[in-house]
Amino acid sequence: MPLIVGNWKMNGLGADGVSLASAVAAKVKSAPAKTREVVVCPPFTLLERVGAAIAGSGVSLGGQDCAPKVSGAFTGDVSAPMLKDAGCSWVILGHSERRAGHKESDALVRAKVEAAEAAGLVTIACVGETLAEREGGRALDVVAGQLQGSLPDKRPERWVVAYEPVWAIGTGKTATSDDIRAMHAHIRSYLERRYDRITGVSVLYGGSVKGDNAREILGVSGVDGALVGGASLKAEEFWAICTAR
Ligand code: 13P
Repeated sequence: MPLIVGNWKMNGLGADGVSLASAVAAKVKSAPAKTREVVVCPPFTLLERVGAAIAGSGVSLGGQDCAPKVSGAFTGDVSAPMLKDAGCSWVILGHSERRAGHKESDALVRAKVEAAEAAGLVTIACVGETLAEREGGRALDVVAGQLQGSLPDKRPERWVVAYEPVWAIGTGKTATSDDIRAMHAHIRSYLERRYDRITGVSVLYGGSVKGDNAREILGVSGVDGALVGGASLKAEEFWAICTAR
């Protein structure tokens, strides 16, 4: 079953966030047969309120980041057990906005993935090349390098890799179906080489997924779902993505 994850990024104040979450929850609840596995990842400040709004609907809650440590003197950080305690079962890690804007290295992402798994969260580990890397013919190598550095050696029971080409995020540009198919096959073959088996892994595509292109993207072989930014902030459009395939 395709997995659709809404990454709200740094958007949403109380009333709006709760009404968005409630609207998504109501749609999922009213049409369970059409429904994909749906996760929403609001900012930390809204986790508990959004968690209450989606309770019992089948929609799951995720964080957008976590610290590599469990607790301690790390001002401003939020740990994986804290996310779990706030009702999360998922966490997005290694998003390109964190890799670029907060200088997160592969090693740091890996430490976060290990912390999240130890806390019992399902990790959505993000990888993706920049435009310069793609134009330089290095997209496949860059993504393999990110996977090598960011994923722990021990394979978890359930895990998600999200391929998000940096140049497609928030730009309205999407990778072509052929490029998505090729990258998803590349990711799977990398994982097959590295791990004894890769059951339980889902590979998502992210980057300008909208209501009107979701059907095509979700139909590409090797695409198990979508990681959605801007379009997850509108209940109708997010629902169109959830029901696209
Ligand atoms: P957009 O869907 O806004 O391009 O964002 C994609 C993304 O970064 C999801 O994590």
